[in-house]
Amino acid sequence: MAGTPKFREQWSTKLGLILAIAGNAVGLGNFLRFPTQAAENGGGAFMIPYMIAMLLIAIPLMWTEWAIGRYGGAKGHGATPGIFKFLWKNPISKYIGVLGLFVPFVVLCYYIYIESWTLGYAIFSLFGVLPHPDPSLPQNQYLKPFADFLSWYTKPSFVAYLFFLITIAFNAFILYKGVSGGIEKFAKVAIPTLFILAAVLMIRVILIETPNGTAVQGLDFLWHPDFSQLLNPQVWLAAAGQVFFTLSLGFGAIITYASYIKEDDDIVASGLSSASLNELAEVILGGSIAIPAAVAFFGVMNAQNVAESGAFNLAFVSLPAIFSNLTGGGILGFFWFFLLFFAGATSSVAISMPVITFLQDEFKLSRTVAVTATVIFTFLVAQIPIFLPKALDEMDFWAGTFFVVLFALLEVVVFFWLFESKKAWEEINRGGLFRVPRFYYYVLKFVTPVALFIILIAWSVEMFPKVLSTTSMEAWIARLVMIFILLLLFFMVYLANKRNGETA
Ligand code: ALA
Repeated sequence: MAGTPKFREQWSTKLGLILAIAGNAVGLGNFLRFPTQAAENGGGAFMIPYMIAMLLIAIPLMWTEWAIGRYGGAKGHGATPGIFKFLWKNPISKYIGVLGLFVPFVVLCYYIYIESWTLGYAIFSLFGVLPHPDPSLPQNQYLKPFADFLSWYTKPSFVAYLFFLITIAFNAFILYKGVSGGIEKFAKVAIPTLFILAAVLMIRVILIETPNGTAVQGLDFLWHPDFSQLLNPQVWLAAAGQVFFTLSLGFGAIITYASYIKEDDDIVASGLSSASLNELAEVILGGSIAIPAAVAFFGVMNAQNVAESGAFNLAFVSLPAIFSNLTGGGILGFFWFFLLFFAGATSSVAISMPVITFLQDEFKLSRTVAVTATVIFTFLVAQIPIFLPKALDEMDFWAGTFFVVLFALLEVVVFFWLFESKKAWEEINRGGLFRVPRFYYYVLKFVTPVALFIILIAWSVEMFPKVLSTTSMEAWIARLVMIFILLLLFFMVYLANKRNGETA
């Protein structure tokens, strides 16, 4: 019956919960996406819209997601279709919640493939399989073997596919062990490990000095503010997009994790703690490795070209090239890719969870059956981004960018307007180690939804014409598959509703 709390797993310790949610957030976005975005969008000046978006959109939204999750968990539901119908008693609310399954699932299907590259590269670095060109070659020629290696590898080759299989099996292994036995235990090892590896790399990178430049010049390049950029709306959109991506907001994944906390546990301080860990990993560690190393090695102008050529080139081409020139470069490369693998894996298990939890809560499937079904389906859909690279961009635009913001807007409207602001505010503060400043009540009620709405419109105006003009076969296959997934999820929510004999 609806509303009857059933036995659900719980996080076993507060520390484990904070590390698991930090792991949910800390991902490839912190180490690859953030430095490239900052370098391209005004350097130090990027941090102004970044901080504003963090304070007015991301932090309130993060508390909202924690509160929605804890509220749903107490009622026996951890995925948004099951939770939304309690927040807004309207037949369509559960269908709005479908986005909380669609977004994480589609993102998972390409994220896990990129994550598997990091595992492959970690092993290649350790065993010295990556190219070792002559360092006296001009930059283009020096980088070429690394770029060729990446394109041979991601084609995909047999080896790339093998690492994809290993990565999916590794994720499945953690998920089979459950919330406290798998995800929490993994986060307790992975998060400290990746912080240590990143700190070691940061220290090593700061010491790099070549005739072309120094890492300190790299820090100066990254953080030197170009305030004229603040007049450019693109910079504001990029900053808002980054805070969303990095904190995994609008993915449904924080909601599902929060559904496994105890009914009266604090969420105000825990939410801030995990977001702070994410920011430490992003701004301090993420900002001090890839770009400073590239500047020290290639000089400011060339590093800028590398950064602008994309996050993958920075991570998979320029950094291995730099490490191959340093003493102990194989180990440094291993550290770099292994930390990316752990960062990726703590996020991919998180974005697997909404669908798994949905199957468990709404269809009463055992964990084993729910995980098996999700992993098989992920494996099948992942073939599309693996074999059709343009499909990956299409999936990233719709699921990883547009629907994320749309869903975040719907979450705030459902929670703060339809569920009712006063109840929502109390729900956020219940059990809190301290109360959220009252100022945020008004932020959540007015500023966050309006800001999200503006971002959504601005993005749509900017991006829709570009994306919809893509008529390649690969893009169309991705679109059709996404429509199929969406319809399938709607149908499953309909079935779950019928099965549970609920009228709403
Ligand atoms: N928050 C995750 C990342 O930064 C998705 O990669």
